[in-house]
Amino acid sequence: MISCAAHAELQGQKIYVNGGESPAAMACTTCHSANGMGTESAGFPRLAGLPQGYLIKQLDDFRSGKRVNAVMQPIASALTDSETRAVADYLGSLNIAVPGVDSDPTRSNANAAEKLVKQGDWSRNIPSCVACHGMGTSGVGDSFPPLVGQPGSYIATQLDAWRSGTRKNDPNDLMGHIARSLSDSEIKDLSAYFASLSAEAKQ
Ligand code: HEC
Ligand code: HEC
Repeated sequence: MISCAAHAELQGQKIYVNGGESPAAMACTTCHSANGMGTESAGFPRLAGLPQGYLIKQLDDFRSGKRVNAVMQPIASALTDSETRAVADYLGSLNIAVPGVDSDPTRSNANAAEKLVKQGDWSRNIPSCVACHGMGTSGVGDSFPPLVGQPGSYIATQLDAWRSGTRKNDPNDLMGHIARSLSDSEIKDLSAYFASLSAEAKQ
């Protein structure tokens, strides 16, 4: 006999690889890659090891339109509630070793992006990314997702989405305020910074 939790994870893995009951709930692996780490070139995000609660919230937000995306909206809408829980459970249970960003603020300043990540910029009311996203930007609980391990191109599209208002699912406009305070070249630098960390993690 297998336990309920193990059964849910098996069901979740099946959805990840083959899709849900509805044909519109396409197989996740096609875009998010076999290991769930996303792809840099297409900007598909990492899902493996993200907290279950965060993943469920994002799928709900695509459905409700708080987060607008033409690819994910129909897929999220085609998943049943139990399929959503099962696939999020499976992805959250994957133990992914992604080395965190070195969080020591005394060893920052290598470039503008690293400075923003570790120290922020108080003259513009921008807290450091590690203040919310945790030591090493490895994430904190269900609310603050990891940034390290995400494709750099995906980091940039999300900051742009907050600036243009197609993503407005963050509590109290926490990310909206930050994204609107950043310049185009800072977003480019942050994207390159996270891309180089993800490349290191794959070696
Ligand atoms: C055809 C490609 C494609 C398929 C198939 C696909 N996704 Fe996505 N997914 C995307 C894209 C593109 C984004 C980024 C959307 C954005 O920019 O807001 C995304 C984003 C997400 C996010 C948000 C991640 C984050 O860090 O906030 C979740 C969760 C997600 N997808 C889950 C799934 C699940 C579960 C499946 C399978 C049932 C799936 N996706 C299938 C393309 C796809
Ligand atoms: C005041 C807290 C706070 C700070 C500081 C902060 N973030 Fe966030 N960030 C959040 C929250 C909350 C979310 C999740 C929003 C949601 O529920 O979708 C988030 C999500 C994100 C995402 C989307 C991740 C994903 O998987 O889709 C990116 C990218 C991001 N933050 C980048 C940054 C960067 C870069 C910095 C530093 C310049 C930063 N954040 C600083 C609170 C913060």
